[in-house]
Amino acid sequence: MRSSSKPTPRPHAATREPGRRIRAATDAVPGERSAGALLADARTAISPVLRAAVATLGHPLDRMAGYHFGWCDVDGTLCHGVHGKGLRPALALATASACGASAADAVHAAAAVELLHNFSLIHDDVMDADPMRHGRPTVWRVWGTTNATLLGDALQALAFAVLSDGGVPEEAGGAAVIRLARTTAILCHGQFQDIDFETRPDVSVEDYLSMAAGKTAILLGCSCALGALCAGADSRTVAGFNTFGRNLGLAFQLVDDAIDIWGDPSVTGKPGHSDLRARKRSFPIVCALTSGTAAGDELARMYRDPRPMSDADAERAAALVAEAGGRERTQRRADQAVEAALAGLPPGLGCDDLITLSHVVVQRNR
Ligand code: IPE
Ligand code: IPE
Ligand code: MG
Ligand code: MG
Ligand code: MG
Repeated sequence: MRSSSKPTPRPHAATREPGRRIRAATDAVPGERSAGALLADARTAISPVLRAAVATLGHPLDRMAGYHFGWCDVDGTLCHGVHGKGLRPALALATASACGASAADAVHAAAAVELLHNFSLIHDDVMDADPMRHGRPTVWRVWGTTNATLLGDALQALAFAVLSDGGVPEEAGGAAVIRLARTTAILCHGQFQDIDFETRPDVSVEDYLSMAAGKTAILLGCSCALGALCAGADSRTVAGFNTFGRNLGLAFQLVDDAIDIWGDPSVTGKPGHSDLRARKRSFPIVCALTSGTAAGDELARMYRDPRPMSDADAERAAALVAEAGGRERTQRRADQAVEAALAGLPPGLGCDDLITLSHVVVQRNR
């Protein structure tokens, strides 16, 4: 593995000096690649692998996939500018690089985690009945829930195909496939908990943390672990990067929860207040519901009312969550999770790109 000096910790939201400007997630420091460049490069690197995999799908699944990935419109007309962030492949490539591998060694693993992630998004939009993603109607809204289910299944299969077809270094292949398979099963369990919690009045912070560890954090951990595996890292190093990714993944979901309530739908490309309307137990909501405050009690009454929330109700619910301390606690918990991730980075490796990506997680608005 490549050896380099331990990276200098960067200022983080939880530790910065008061009044000091926080470096924006996309700011570049001379000699370093910005987060925006890391994400864009990862999307570019995996694009040929993704496109080749999607091209093996029969019509019209190939077009549905192309639409979901933002390569074309519903009718197949080519388009640009609609895409996910590419965080998971960027983590896989950055971890591989920290362990001394080239992008070529890890590009199939990076494409595999992006395929797996998009399987989960397409199914998630069905489960959450969400009509918009990336600023466009979701796959199920265009082609129906049966076809969206099938497309998600197909992308999951492609993830394993890409990981097993010889692109991953031979000595890493078996372990990588098993890891992705276990990750998928745990992700599904997390999604089960997420839906189950919608109708459970007694969800605790611990319950939430177990759910988020499954539905989101496990795949970020796996992305890093696969990057390390592709670099031939030893099991201790793989485990260290897995833990880093899981802590980062928790922060990622916490920020996602906050963005759902207080983000700008024209920036996120997702409907606002979706979690509140679905009576989700996201972190800010669980904090509010268990706060013992008058605002938390009012929110609990709203949650017991089975009628759909109007826009005004959803605005009121969002205000109650903030009043009950849910917004502040979520930000604090996300900061803590990123701190834990950074503190646990395996020493002696060049982790600058992973540190840069960590900042995106807490500073992002989409
Ligand atoms: C959304 O993930 C789903 C969650 C785990 C919260 P991303 O926000 O990474 O999705 P894209 O790929 O960038 O759209
Ligand atoms: C999704 O969580 C997690 C997975 C896709 C496995 P969310 O339901 O919060 O994700 P968004 O907000 O729809 O992207
Ligand atoms: Mg969901
Ligand atoms: Mg969702
Ligand atoms: Mg969400």
